[in-house]
Amino acid sequence: MSISIKKPEQITKMRVAGKLASSVLEMIGEYVKVGITTEELDKICHSFIVNDLDCIPAPLNYNGFPKSICTSVNSVVCHGIPGDKKLKKGDIINIDITVIRDGFHGDTSKMFIVGKPSVKATKICQVAQECMMLGIKQVKPGIHLGEIGKVIGSYAHSKNCSVVRDYCGHGIGEVFHELPQVIHYNDGKIDRSPILEPGMTFTIEPMINLGSYEVITSRLDGWTVTTKDRSLSAQWEHTILVTENGYEILTLREEEENS
Ligand code: MF3
Ligand code: CO
Ligand code: CO
Repeated sequence: MSISIKKPEQITKMRVAGKLASSVLEMIGEYVKVGITTEELDKICHSFIVNDLDCIPAPLNYNGFPKSICTSVNSVVCHGIPGDKKLKKGDIINIDITVIRDGFHGDTSKMFIVGKPSVKATKICQVAQECMMLGIKQVKPGIHLGEIGKVIGSYAHSKNCSVVRDYCGHGIGEVFHELPQVIHYNDGKIDRSPILEPGMTFTIEPMINLGSYEVITSRLDGWTVTTKDRSLSAQWEHTILVTENGYEILTLREEEENS
C-alpha cells in the first residue's frame, strides 16, 4: 500500500471534518474544571458531536474502544478511557477528538491545565505544543517525512524532555489510521521515509514526557498508556494537509489563528 493523495473534492471534505473536530475542543474548554469527571466530559462531547455537529465520534467502538473521546490525565500518555475519576487542581489533561463527517476524519487534541498550573505542568504542556508546531512548520512538498521527527526530537532533547516512540502520527482520510506513519523522534538512522507531495493528509501528534520516553499499556483495560516512570506527559495533535507551497492545518482553532 502507498500513501493516498487526496483529490480536491476529498480535500474539501477533510477541511469540513477538521473544522468540526476543532470546534469540539473549543466547546469543551469551559467544562474542564476541578470536580468534573472525564466520563462527564465524554458525555458532553458525545452529545455535541452527534446532535449538534451531525458527526460520528470515531473512537467509539474503534477496535473495541468504549468511549467517544480519549482523556489522558497527568502521567497518562494517550488513549485514556473516560471514567469516574474527578479532575483535581493542577491536573493536566489531553482531550483527543476524532470525528467523521461525510466519510472523512478530522483528528485533533490539546492540553488543558486544571486550576492553578504548576511549573512542571506549564513546562510539559508548552514544550509539547512547541514540538507539534515545529514539526508542522517543516511540512512542504519535497521534504522527507522524517524531517518532522528530527526537529521534534532535537527540540524536546534541548528542553530535557523525551519523545514517546511507541505511538506515531498517521495518514488520515476515509480511514482513521492509514499510511504514512509519522514518527516524532529522531532515530539517527539514514532517512528512508517517504517524500511529501501535495494532497497528502496526516496527523502530527507528538507525545512528550518530562522523564523517560518509555511507556506501558494497562493490562487491566488494554488501552491506557502511561509513562513507565510516572512522569508527566503531554500531547497536542493537528490534522495537516500538504499544499503546493507548504501546509494547511485542517484542525486549526480560532485561538490559534493569530499565533
Ligand atoms: N485519536 C487517536 C489518534 O490520535 C486515536 C484514538 S484511537 C482510540 O490517533 F481507540 F483510542 F480511540
Ligand atoms: Co491521531
Ligand atoms: Co487523535
